[in-house]
Amino acid sequence: MELLPPSILEPLPLREIFPAVRLVEVDLGSGSGKFLIESALKFPDRNFLGIERLLGRVRKTCRVASEIGLPNLRVLRLELDYTVRYLLPEDSVWRFHLNFPDPWPKRRHHTRRVVDSEFLEAINRSLIDGGELRIKTDHEAYFAQITKAAGQSSLWNPMEWVDEGYPRSGFEEQFLAKELPIYRLRLGKRASDPQ
Ligand SMILES: C[S@@+](CC[C@H](N)C(=O)[O-])C[C@H]1O[C@@H](n2cnc3c(N)ncnc32)[C@H](O)[C@@H]1O
Repeated sequence: MELLPPSILEPLPLREIFPAVRLVEVDLGSGSGKFLIESALKFPDRNFLGIERLLGRVRKTCRVASEIGLPNLRVLRLELDYTVRYLLPEDSVWRFHLNFPDPWPKRRHHTRRVVDSEFLEAINRSLIDGGELRIKTDHEAYFAQITKAAGQSSLWNPMEWVDEGYPRSGFEEQFLAKELPIYRLRLGKRASDPQ
């Protein structure tokens, strides 16, 4: 179901948005929704929120999700950087998934890449203790940039990639079919030092 935010100036009331209070996972740039839908189906005891700016992709996701009937899935048609920085409440998300973010390969377009240190900080604020960010990309240089930004911050614990049974995303299927390498990064929220 498409999520129409009650306000785009106030944090989202995530607890009221889903029918049951459960761990929340966010799919950043959910595309046509394959990963989001199959995850919500596979893990019915968790809530899944997709964020995607393209109307056609959001509509497709909503159509398929409503045909299946997935009470634990919502899609928000908004810009994901804005949503993470201003709309997701602090300490609210268990896992973020960033599957194949647009790599903007031309140098003059690098500023359009969504991941930078401020974005990572905003993600970290929204995570609950024990939460994590899971990233996959086919783009080696973008992967190196993300890994470097995370490594320069004291907010993250790099974790070993563990395949926890999540489905493949639409883009992942395409890259696997072409036998292209896929780079994976799992960043755990580092516990803050006791005062
Ligand atoms: C390369 S596709 C990957 C889609 C999906 N995650 C997958 O792995 O199949 C990137 C997706 O992110 C969306 N996207 C890119 N930048 C975005 C932004 N700033 N806000 C919201 N969506 C964005 C695009 O519209 C597109 O659907």
